[in-house]
Amino acid sequence: MGKDKVRIGIIGAGRIGKIHADNLLRNPHAEIVGISDLFAGPELEAWASSRGIPVVTTDSSELISMPNVDAVLICSSTDTHVPLIEQAAQAGKHIFCEKPVSMDLSQTQAAVSAVQKAGVKLQIGFNRRFDHNFRRIRAHVQDGTIGDPHIIKITSRDPSPPPAEYIRVSGGIFMDMMIHDFDMARYLSGSEVEEVYAQGNVLINPVLRNMVTWIQRL
Ligand SMILES: NC(=O)c1ccc[n+]([C@@H]2O[C@H](COP(=O)([O-])OP(=O)(O)OC[C@H]3O[C@@H](n4cnc5c(N)ncnc54)[C@H](O)[C@@H]3O)[C@@H](O)[C@H]2O)c1
Repeated sequence: MGKDKVRIGIIGAGRIGKIHADNLLRNPHAEIVGISDLFAGPELEAWASSRGIPVVTTDSSELISMPNVDAVLICSSTDTHVPLIEQAAQAGKHIFCEKPVSMDLSQTQAAVSAVQKAGVKLQIGFNRRFDHNFRRIRAHVQDGTIGDPHIIKITSRDPSPPPAEYIRVSGGIFMDMMIHDFDMARYLSGSEVEEVYAQGNVLINPVLRNMVTWIQRL
C-alpha cells in the first residue's frame, strides 16, 4: 500500500460511483488511479479528466490487476458485486463494496470467504453508521443514557414513488433500502436480528400493485 495514500480504482461510474469519487477527491489520504464502467466513453473520459483521474476503462479486470491499485470501490450494479469481490480479493486488493453484497445468502457467504482467505479488508457501504445523528444515538445506548432499549422504531421513506423499472431490478424500497434499516437495528442495539416478520399492502399506486406478485416471488 502507498505510504500516505491509498491508491484506488473505482468500478461502476453511475450515481453512487461518481458521488464516492467526488468525496475521495477531497480526502488527502486517497488517490483515484482509475475508473471503469461498462459504458465508459467520451462522456466519462471528460468527467474523469476534469477530476484528474488518469485511467478510464470499460474493463474492471484492468483496474483490479493494476499493480498501483491498493483498493477497489465496487459501485456497479448489485448483481456484479460477488464476482467482483472475489476477483479483487484474489488479486490481493482491499475492497469497499456498495450494499447489498448480493440478494443471495450463499453467494454473500462465498464472497466473505474469498475475502477472509485472501486476508484483505472488506467494507460494505452502510453509510448511515457515519451519520453523526445515528452515531449519537448509538453512543447514548452504549453509555446507558437511554437506558435499556426495548423498541427501536425506524421509519424510512423515499421522496417519491420509484419507477417500475427500478423496482423490477432492485426490489424497491423493501429489498434495496431496508438493508440500511436492518443495519441500523444491529448498529444501534449492538445485537443481531433473530426473527423477521413483515406485513404490507399496496393501497394507492397501481404501478406498484402490478409489481407485488413479482416481489412476492423474490
Ligand atoms: N449506500 C447507499 O446509500 C447507496 C446509494 C445508492 C446506490 N447504492 C448501491 O450502489 C450500487 C450502484 O447503484 P447506482 O445507483 O450507482 O446504480 P447506477 O445504475 O447509477 O450505476 C451502476 C453503474 O455500474 C456500471 N456497471 C455495471 N456492471 C459493471 C461492471 N461489471 N463493471 C463496471 N461497471 C459496471 C453501469 O454501467 C452503471 O453505470 C447498487 O448496488 C446500489 O444498491 C448504495
